[in-house]
Amino acid sequence: MAEKKREIWKGFFVLEGMDGSGTTTQLELCRTRAQQENLALDCEAEPTTGAIGTLLRRFLRRELEGSAQTLAWLFAADRQEHLFARSGIQHRLTEGRKILTDRYWFSSMAYQSLDLSWDQVWALQATFPLPEAIFFLDVDTQTAAERRDQRALAEELFEKAPLQERIRSGYHLVWEQLQRESPDSEIIIIDGRKPKPEIHSEIWERLCR
Ligand code: TYD
Repeated sequence: MAEKKREIWKGFFVLEGMDGSGTTTQLELCRTRAQQENLALDCEAEPTTGAIGTLLRRFLRRELEGSAQTLAWLFAADRQEHLFARSGIQHRLTEGRKILTDRYWFSSMAYQSLDLSWDQVWALQATFPLPEAIFFLDVDTQTAAERRDQRALAEELFEKAPLQERIRSGYHLVWEQLQRESPDSEIIIIDGRKPKPEIHSEIWERLCR
């Protein structure tokens, strides 16, 4: 049976990158700018602040322990709610709002495939649509590690240095597979070492196009 073509949702945008790549900073810059310019843009993140996302954060902080499979299902369940809950992304897009999310199913590919098979994780994402564009903040693992150190927060589950190189190559594999599966997908790879305002301008211009 032929696979169903993945939908592309207009007005929906995604920021992706390794821990320390600057996605959270860019999300906040867009949030502030949207307020200043009165743009109907919702800036949010996965794991979400909903019930499943909150539970997930406890696993990430290592307060709870669970198998890799359980985590993969939880990330997918959190995403399902993020997209399809009553006031989820789908609903808000129909109201004419734009949405920018810090992480989406591409994070599951890069991170959950550290412990599970690639195809298994890909299959879990089969029903999730594509955003209008993906911004990938690409940084080398050294830069990302230095930035995480500067934050001086407790190290989360996936933040160990040796994992980060694998996560980075995981991302590049996702973009390759995505381009084959959905040639219409727009993946914007940005050098994450560029000055923050420059990166912000690039993202903002695309968001407002
Ligand atoms: P992150 O946005 O980096 O949170 P914080 O800014 O609080 O550190 O995301 C938390 C972690 O969750 C990060 O290490 C990546 C991981 N993650 C997955 O493993 N799979 C997923 O599907 C998502 C969305 C995140």
